[in-house]
Amino acid sequence: MPITFTRCGSALHRVVARSAYSPCAARSYSNYVFQENDIVLVQKKTDASAKQILSKPLRPGRRVNTTTGHIDHESIIGLSPRAVVAAGKGEYRIYKPTLGEYTNLTARIVTPVYPADANLIVSLLDLNPTVPDPSSSSPSPPLEIFEAGTGHGALTLHLARAIHAANPAPPPIPSPPRPAPAPDSEEGTSSDLVDAEHQAAVDKWEAYKPTRRAVITTLDVSARHSAHAKTVVAGWRKGMYAHSVDFHVGSIPEYIASRLATSPEPFLDHTILDLPDCHLYLETISQALKEDGTVLVFCPSITQVIACVKQAKKEVLPLVLESTLEIGQAAGVGGRVWDVRAVRARSFVRAEAEKVEGAEEAVESGTEGSEAAAETIAETTPKEAKPLKPEGDGWNMVCRPKVGDRVVGGGFVGVFRRVVK
Ligand SMILES: C[S@@+](CC[C@H](N)C(=O)[O-])C[C@H]1O[C@@H](n2cnc3c(N)ncnc32)[C@H](O)[C@@H]1O
Repeated sequence: MPITFTRCGSALHRVVARSAYSPCAARSYSNYVFQENDIVLVQKKTDASAKQILSKPLRPGRRVNTTTGHIDHESIIGLSPRAVVAAGKGEYRIYKPTLGEYTNLTARIVTPVYPADANLIVSLLDLNPTVPDPSSSSPSPPLEIFEAGTGHGALTLHLARAIHAANPAPPPIPSPPRPAPAPDSEEGTSSDLVDAEHQAAVDKWEAYKPTRRAVITTLDVSARHSAHAKTVVAGWRKGMYAHSVDFHVGSIPEYIASRLATSPEPFLDHTILDLPDCHLYLETISQALKEDGTVLVFCPSITQVIACVKQAKKEVLPLVLESTLEIGQAAGVGGRVWDVRAVRARSFVRAEAEKVEGAEEAVESGTEGSEAAAETIAETTPKEAKPLKPEGDGWNMVCRPKVGDRVVGGGFVGVFRRVVK
């Protein structure tokens, strides 16, 4: 039996023909070699703080440009992760990027949620999807997570990673349809064949969609952001999570209303809002959220979480704030818990009650000032029409601890739970 030595942690271990009993057996997975279309991370071999370069999908004829020269994609294809390659006078190590490195380093048109924050946000949802069970005779409705806005697609990918294993293996996602050939072109039957193949792929994909057991529905008001995020999701490990994500462009109220119009039952297990003025969407979301589901708002400032609490109170929404966390480097691992509650001084509540009682008496007796009194009562009933613009003058106060010159990521998370009304 061949005997080799391998390093596990800092100690050298003797491994007998990669025995399953070896303490390092679980790590002997790296006989992987880079293939065409893989995306790799390139970094100077001797400098762990050097700039990381994310390649385009590996294809013959392409190159990675570095400060000391270029590396041909052909010379990377077939190498193992951590292999060293020369570029001019420099030596570079080739890595498999992590999901966080990928979302941080992909070209961006909007600021993504940073990996540490994304991981914490995903963990707050406590997702535990089960694997498909073909023998089960009573399929449950799919777990659905609604995310707005999509932005860069960074949080979308982290969410998709948490749920994708609940889904059966997908067929290939159809590529966009080919543009119609010019009327005088000679493509004829060959183009018909391509169209038929495309249609077959679309049919397969449409048949697959209802079999999914967990879906991220992600919406952005910007078509440009959504299209870019779609390429980010499709680019991660050859689109390994793309089948678990549905992209939509438009407004939150319109989208939710269109879904409730087809089926009035609440359909969302969780919602994540990472956009300005989250408080304006809580009422709409609470209509679509299943009982015990969560709405997580991610805001740059604690005052915006407070605006959500106030809105939930004002509109008498079936949402309770379960926890408030400050997340990011300044808050440390796991976030810093804040105590955010809507409280009113006893004297204020008493005065309010007296005011309402006085108003009721005034309305009944038809005395002078009855109009003002009626207004007071109206103010205390929930509003039917929701304003979809910032209230007041639109200003929000920035309110967060300042740490150092540059704050990377971070913010405040409010986790609301849907309770019985
Ligand atoms: C900070 S980015 C979200 C980043 C994202 N979570 C990520 O990890 O990449 C905010 C996004 O919200 C979108 N947005 C702003 N207002 C919106 C609205 N009312 N409805 C939907 N999306 C909105 C913006 O277009 C932008 O793409």
